[in-house]
Amino acid sequence: MNERDSEIMGQMLCNADYSPTEDIHQADVIVINTCSIREKAEQKVYSLLGRLKKLKQKKPDLIISVAGCVAQQEGERLQARMPLVDIVLGPQQIYCLPELVSRAAQKGKPLMAVDLSPSFEIPRYIPPSPAISRQKDDRIASTLYFKKFVTIMQGCNNFCTYCVVPYTRGRETSRKPDDILAEIEALAEQGVKEITLLGQNVNSYGKYPADSRNYKSFPELLRKVAALENIKRIRFTTSHPKDLSPELIACFADVAKLCPHFHLPVQSGSNPVLKRMNRGYTVEEYLAKVDTLRQVKPDIALTTDIIVGFPGETDKDFQATMDLLETVRYHGAFSFKYSDRPQAKAVAFDNKVAEEVKSERLSCLQQKQNEISLQKNRGYEGSIQHIMVEGQSKNGDGQWSGRTMSNIIVNFEGPAALSAGQEVQVRITEGLLHSLRGVLSL
Ligand code: 5AD
Ligand code: SF4
Repeated sequence: MNERDSEIMGQMLCNADYSPTEDIHQADVIVINTCSIREKAEQKVYSLLGRLKKLKQKKPDLIISVAGCVAQQEGERLQARMPLVDIVLGPQQIYCLPELVSRAAQKGKPLMAVDLSPSFEIPRYIPPSPAISRQKDDRIASTLYFKKFVTIMQGCNNFCTYCVVPYTRGRETSRKPDDILAEIEALAEQGVKEITLLGQNVNSYGKYPADSRNYKSFPELLRKVAALENIKRIRFTTSHPKDLSPELIACFADVAKLCPHFHLPVQSGSNPVLKRMNRGYTVEEYLAKVDTLRQVKPDIALTTDIIVGFPGETDKDFQATMDLLETVRYHGAFSFKYSDRPQAKAVAFDNKVAEEVKSERLSCLQQKQNEISLQKNRGYEGSIQHIMVEGQSKNGDGQWSGRTMSNIIVNFEGPAALSAGQEVQVRITEGLLHSLRGVLSL
């Protein structure tokens, strides 16, 4: 979501006659897009701003903007603590960036745009600028012009008790289906082949705003995107287990372009913890959905998010999460130590878990998940996978890199004549912890 927001801000600045630079010393405007989902992400912003102080002293006209969730959450406090910041821009306000930059350039006061409107509408289509409309991947030499994110909804009404998002991104709002399809069609015309539909909770697409009754449902939207000839692969993220409908599961059976990967954050394997998190499902309900997904699409790769050390999490609760890992056997899991977030309800919960206990649980869980991920990846050995080429590895060893339909990175040997975006068959020779190795299969 943030990556797409950064891209949108880049596109708008390009349209306002700025051009991107790789050299920070050349920059006239620096926009730091921020995330405050966990404490660690927030700390990074302050340390980066600290490093920019010297640059601003040397170049007083430099405009520094902090955008995103930290900006929303900190507002004036951010400028008070870091006077070098010229513009503070909440996630709903990113579309005002060019106007604020031009005001700041005319030596306006520090500018603040952190309103959260309950009737916020994602603006209509922003034309991608060729200069910026590429994604970068540090592993590979080329830029990924053929795969793009498209925002379909934003904000969240779920109020999980640990989470800051409803307070920083505001109420859930879906983008108009025609706007979404127009953007994807334009991307397809430019050669984009893979689309990831983005939102805090994509499978509740179409529920809000109140006048969205004639919007399509998420499964209907998926089918519309799949009907676009030049789009070859479709992904989406993120989904809330409670909103995962039979209609969406059915799409995996008959929408061939829908990639067999589902990121389904479970957060905990203990019902009492899930209840205190306000997740709206039980472990049993979650597992039943996992079973149905696997019945419909046996080779689907499941990934998840897990929080350890939520307030009141006992050894027994944690063991239940460990058991869940064994039961589901995810391809991968992002796991985090619980941290208090401003405004989130769990800040006031009793029985906070000690930092050492959280660390211990996290490493225990990650060790278990690593074993499972490695076994899952070894399970691909000997198979032929349909890969979309992403580019040649940077270290000049003639290796190519791409992804399986199930979103696993594959490094493989292939001739120099391949190109990014090309679809090839690769025979997998080795499964590693985070990737696969293979050779081009003719
Ligand atoms: N502490 C730790 N992890 C959190 N996440 C969200 N809020 C917190 C928090 N306060 C994790 C959840 C979510 C992922 C994006 O970040 O697992 O799914
Ligand atoms: Fe946060 Fe829960 Fe909303 Fe996800 S569903 S963004 S975890 S409040």
